[in-house]
Amino acid sequence: MAYNVAIVGATGNVGREMLTILEELEFPVAGMHAVASRKSKGVEVAWKDKTIKCEVIDSFDWSKVDIVLMSAGGDVSREWSEKIGKAGPIVIDNSSAFRKDPDVPLIVPEVNPDAIKDARKKNIIANPNCSTAQLVVALKPLHEAAKIRRAVVSTYQSVSGAGKEGMDELWNQTKAIYGLGDASPKKFPKQIAFNVIPFIGSFRDDGYTDEEAKMWDETHKMLDPAIKLTVTCVRVPVFVGHSEAVTLEFEKPISPDEARAILRDAPGVLVIDGQSEEGRGLERRPDRPAAGRDGHDQAQKRLPVDRGLMIPLPPGEGRTA
Ligand SMILES: NC(=O)c1ccc[n+]([C@@H]2O[C@H](COP(=O)([O-])OP(=O)(O)OC[C@H]3O[C@@H](n4cnc5c(N)ncnc54)[C@H](OP(=O)(O)O)[C@@H]3O)[C@@H](O)[C@H]2O)c1
Repeated sequence: MAYNVAIVGATGNVGREMLTILEELEFPVAGMHAVASRKSKGVEVAWKDKTIKCEVIDSFDWSKVDIVLMSAGGDVSREWSEKIGKAGPIVIDNSSAFRKDPDVPLIVPEVNPDAIKDARKKNIIANPNCSTAQLVVALKPLHEAAKIRRAVVSTYQSVSGAGKEGMDELWNQTKAIYGLGDASPKKFPKQIAFNVIPFIGSFRDDGYTDEEAKMWDETHKMLDPAIKLTVTCVRVPVFVGHSEAVTLEFEKPISPDEARAILRDAPGVLVIDGQSEEGRGLERRPDRPAAGRDGHDQAQKRLPVDRGLMIPLPPGEGRTA
């Protein structure tokens, strides 16, 4: 069976990557439709060895597709995803709009595929924030083996997480700083070129940011609400690919070698031992830094604590953000 598919946000970073991945996966597509805002009407995007013209969200006929991949931001999803779901196709929503909705399953296929049983309640499936997705893929097999009691996560998130405008800002500021031009921030709250911004999103009353709250809400919904989570999300001047440092405390003893063996067998995980030559380098192809291969690189080393492991999750070309 082949499916008619629409990608909403097809001119964006994520939408274009979706088109590439569907082609690489040889996903059975009968017809592909690129959808974006009015300003992109007729804009051509690459699909396989040809181009397709963008259609406009307001006038698109949803009854002609089976699957809609929504990747145009939370506001667009809030306005459109439920309407589209009611019109027939299943919506896979990449924004934060429905992740906490009890009637919408939040799914990472390697982690909780069975949650798909609830997909027909609203005809919407949500996927988590990019940094949560790569985290839970690594945590799930370890949680099953030794039950995670606590996770302390620090992220190093690339500017791609803020869309095309975020990537443009890093590029333009970098050029401006070398050329003595204007490097004032527009998309980010502070200068990002040659800098690290120690928060992402807005601060809540409890002192955490909404980006940090997404990680614990989503991890709890998909994996286990009993896991105690401490999260710090930081923006770094890297174009594509989020990294994370994760310290775990378990209920049951687990050795680094056991953890390595478990992760090696886990779906979506690629173990690169941090103590090996390969693990130390983690160099990326200059033409496509940190993007372009599925599976998350994991390097691990032991912390000097009982029942504890520290796992750096490098960007891993994991298609994160
Ligand atoms: N889950 C994750 O891991 C993850 C990671 C990154 C991003 N995201 C989500 O994906 C979204 C897109 O990210 P991105 O990096 O691709 O952003 P982007 O590069 O800025 O692209 C935004 C896309 O949304 C479209 N769009 C904007 N307003 C629209 C409207 N009113 N109607 C229809 N289309 C509209 C844009 O079309 P035009 O070109 O016509 O404006 C463009 O195609 C983010 O906002 C976020 O919600 C999720």
